[in-house]
Amino acid sequence: MADNDPDRRKFLKAATCAVGTGVGLMVAVPVIRLVVDPATRTTVTGPTEPLDLGNVDRFRVGAPPRRVEVIAPMVKDGWTSARDVVLGAAWIRRTEPTKIEALSAVCPHLGCAIGWEGKDFLCPCHDSRFSVTGEKQSGPSERGLDPLPVEVRNGRLQLTWVRYKPGSATREQV
Ligand code: FES
Repeated sequence: MADNDPDRRKFLKAATCAVGTGVGLMVAVPVIRLVVDPATRTTVTGPTEPLDLGNVDRFRVGAPPRRVEVIAPMVKDGWTSARDVVLGAAWIRRTEPTKIEALSAVCPHLGCAIGWEGKDFLCPCHDSRFSVTGEKQSGPSERGLDPLPVEVRNGRLQLTWVRYKPGSATREQV
């Protein structure tokens, strides 16, 4: 039997469109959110709080600088999070029981890893040399080693990791 009721046909047409649109949105919205969502957020979050480097007694007064890895308990990006991420390394020197200095082990020239050579720091990549306190002595680096903030809390050494732009005379945080 033919359906000649125009109102019924209009209603069926509208209902079909509404159901189709609803199903389409149910599928499309989560997909669009999945693809676009990280773009609206900070993509990488590293620690801005001081990081624990262990008991301060690990660092003997008057000893040569000691290299320690700087490890973040958690780093997140738009998609994932990772635990115990090595951010870099620092050279720690304790000159007095209450005086501790930290220098970034990242070369301020182009970012190679700085090594301790017995009486000063040396970058193996282009031979920039730095004094024990981090001042530039020779080589292409335009500035001295980058100092990092440290403090002792409840007998534990806390370091704030800061990364500076390489290849410039001034310290610009990145
Ligand atoms: S990267 Fe260190 S001197 Fe060039």
